Amino acid sequence: MSSTAHDLPVVTHPSAGTTPLGTPRNEAAARHLWGHFTDQSGWSEGRLPTVVRAEGHYFWDSAGRRIFDGLSGLFVVQAGHGRVELAEAAARQARELAFFPVWGYAHTPGIDLAERLALAAPGDLDHVFFTTGGSEAVETAWKLVKQYWALQGKPLKRKVISREGSYHGTTHGALSLTRITSYQEPYTPLVAGALQVPNTNWYRSDPQFWHDEDAYAQWLADQLEQVILAEGPDTVAAFFVEPVQNSGGCFVAPRGYFDKVRAIADRYDVLLVSDEVICAYGRTGGLFASVDQGYVPDVITSSKGLTSGYSPIGAVLVSDRVYEPFRDGTAVFRHGYTFGGHPVSAAVALANLDIFEREGLVEQVQRQGPAFKATLERLFDIPIVGDVRGSGYFYGIELTRDPHTRERFSDAEADTIRAFLNPALYEAGLYVRADDRGDVVIQLAPPLTSTQEDFDHIESILRDVLVRLAQRLE
Ligand SMILES: Cc1ncc(COP(=O)(O)O)c(C=O)c1O
Repeated sequence: MSSTAHDLPVVTHPSAGTTPLGTPRNEAAARHLWGHFTDQSGWSEGRLPTVVRAEGHYFWDSAGRRIFDGLSGLFVVQAGHGRVELAEAAARQARELAFFPVWGYAHTPGIDLAERLALAAPGDLDHVFFTTGGSEAVETAWKLVKQYWALQGKPLKRKVISREGSYHGTTHGALSLTRITSYQEPYTPLVAGALQVPNTNWYRSDPQFWHDEDAYAQWLADQLEQVILAEGPDTVAAFFVEPVQNSGGCFVAPRGYFDKVRAIADRYDVLLVSDEVICAYGRTGGLFASVDQGYVPDVITSSKGLTSGYSPIGAVLVSDRVYEPFRDGTAVFRHGYTFGGHPVSAAVALANLDIFEREGLVEQVQRQGPAFKATLERLFDIPIVGDVRGSGYFYGIELTRDPHTRERFSDAEADTIRAFLNPALYEAGLYVRADDRGDVVIQLAPPLTSTQEDFDHIESILRDVLVRLAQRLE
């Protein structure tokens, strides 16, 4: 690569005014605001943007730049920014009943949302346990499956399986399922009993599978079965799987994969947990992604898009079978969160689902998703674009040294490319993410209200930046 660190694009971000105490906000951030997964030196060096407002598909930063939100915040803002009716739903609920827990009591928006989700969920996943976010949902699901199996007289069934490179959250249990070494290492020991199987990264699979989807699906299923057999089926409680794996770069499952996974889960009494924290609520083209990917899990974990981000909530949906031992009071799930199912968030979620129905957002994603993909595929004429994959409004574009051989960039090159891409795209007016957890993949997840005009806008910015990147790499 011809470029060096000092000729990488640098976007500087002016301070977003002063705090009420008169401190320039960049300074106050550097001193007091601890960003998540954030290199804190970025505040004082002016490398981190401060977002000041948003409307529709765009947000504005403290420099007055207008940026297309190509990631829906963080796979969250399904209905777009600035929806007054969601703000009003929150205000109405806060005036009526701002807070009450769902511990031994219920509140009306909590009941109404649970019913609405249960009716929309696949199969008999009719029971809803609320959390405040995705990690808590995953944590909840793991604890629940342990207790479920203990109540079935199988107390040794406690281990859980997830897929290589997957992200399931950051709390200790969820982090144990998150198979990203750099995220886990500083926090060991983690929760014992988390096992790993290969993910569905078909593009980087053994070349024998590149043109044989069925054989790839069978190989993946065999790997899962082998892990269960090696550990002993009597010790394995659940398999956690995303409908489309985000981390690593939008890995869609090969045809037949989920049928095989479901069959293996049933054969060995392993519960299937569909982690839909990203994929649910329209992202991949169904209200629940397991529906559009064609399988019925035993448990669904969800969060992000349920309120389009106007207030935080998570929801774990559970089948009749798993709920059964808790139904008549012989067993109690001794687990909960003060803010789980917060009334304001539940009211916002209901209003958000009203928007989904009124505006046909799920149908829009189903109808327009292929056009979004086709628009991104126009980038194949740029010699470093290797793969475009995903589903609905959720895509990854993988960059490669040579699209014919799929040659990888070296680690050093990949780091430099990422350091180039994020600021260059931002400067050009597009907020997306160059995934830093594997090969170089640009992740895209625009609001579900996006149309062809937006796809074209995204493509033209990507084209401009990727052409410049390809030239630097020559
Ligand atoms: C699949 C998946 N599970 C769980 C989580 C954790 O969610 P949260 O950040 O709300 O705790 C995420 C977050 O991105 C996720 O993508």
